[in-house]
Amino acid sequence: MSFIIGGVKMIFVVGGAGYIGSFTVRCLMEAGYQPVVLDNLSTGKREAVPDGVPFHEGDIADRSLLDTIFRQYRIDAVMHFAAKIKVGESVERPDLYYGNNLQKAIALLDAMRAHGCDRFILSSTAAVYGEPQYLPVDENHPANPINPYGRSKLMLETVLRDYSAAFPFKAIVLRYFNAAGADPEGNGGESQEVKQNFIPIMLHNLEKGIITDVFGGDWETPDGTPIRDYVHIVDIAAGHSLALKAIMADTAKSFDIFNLGAGVGSSVKEALDVLAAVAGKPVPYRIVGRRAGDPGKLVASNVKAAQELGWKPKYSNLKTIISTAYQWHFNRKY
Ligand SMILES: NC(=O)c1ccc[n+]([C@@H]2O[C@H](COP(=O)([O-])OP(=O)(O)OC[C@H]3O[C@@H](n4cnc5c(N)ncnc54)[C@H](O)[C@@H]3O)[C@@H](O)[C@H]2O)c1
Repeated sequence: MSFIIGGVKMIFVVGGAGYIGSFTVRCLMEAGYQPVVLDNLSTGKREAVPDGVPFHEGDIADRSLLDTIFRQYRIDAVMHFAAKIKVGESVERPDLYYGNNLQKAIALLDAMRAHGCDRFILSSTAAVYGEPQYLPVDENHPANPINPYGRSKLMLETVLRDYSAAFPFKAIVLRYFNAAGADPEGNGGESQEVKQNFIPIMLHNLEKGIITDVFGGDWETPDGTPIRDYVHIVDIAAGHSLALKAIMADTAKSFDIFNLGAGVGSSVKEALDVLAAVAGKPVPYRIVGRRAGDPGKLVASNVKAAQELGWKPKYSNLKTIISTAYQWHFNRKY
């Protein structure tokens, strides 16, 4: 059986049961696209995929499953979220990261080509830049990732650049900064068992009565704690919808890269203070030593996404990010 819904563009979202993918699925539906999700549920949750969205449990390297899906639906574009994302684990097990984030992604690209599907949007990361040489970090900043996670993403970006030069194939790379926050209506949010990013860690610690570690209090920042660029998940999802519109246009470039960041830096201390205000109680923390490879400041330039995609973050301020994340953390549906 083949699904073609009159005139509606079908978007194959791999990793669509994960944190960012599931928000993008919702955003695509609101924008009038029909998402189809494939996810191996290694970290994703089935419940995160909205009702009515076709869901296939499986791996992006399962060629016979991909062949079935590409035959079943007339896929117009692929959005790729299906990656491993733990920086520390990538240092200990680089094989898992080059295997999943690079090798399996290439298998997916080859399946796309075999089925004549030629538009691809990649979730990439600010980790490809490595130590910032200047701020804000724009898309022309040298890419020099310092861990296998970042390198696996940069290598895949390079593959996409080469495929788009050689084949009738178009790709947009979206490099997110610190993705955070939850659905303001309470319908979704971060739900990984092992927390990776500072805001979920801070919430987890608050819930469990654990003191939060701040890595360094002597950075060259106004309050001495590190500065990061926190971008709300709903804004990231909207960025995908705009990137999709751009890549579907006949005039689309064959390859392009955009940062998705708030364009504003917030310190770790500011984040702790906002959480204390939202929770209505003190949030215990302690300053510990710096971690190798952590920059003092990392802030995006989002000018290119604003000018060329028309992207304007609406929710990417600390108050909204932390209050939505707090509501979700203490009232999670999954
Ligand atoms: N969370 C962040 O702050 C952040 C920042 C920059 C970039 N990113 C990128 O965004 C993407 C999504 O990240 P996330 O935070 O939503 O993580 P996540 O772990 O919630 O989502 C990844 C999803 O992909 C699935 N998956 C992984 N490997 C797969 C495979 N081989 N086959 C099928 N499904 C597979 C997982 O089950 C999960 O549902 C990743 O590519 C990540 O590198 C995330």
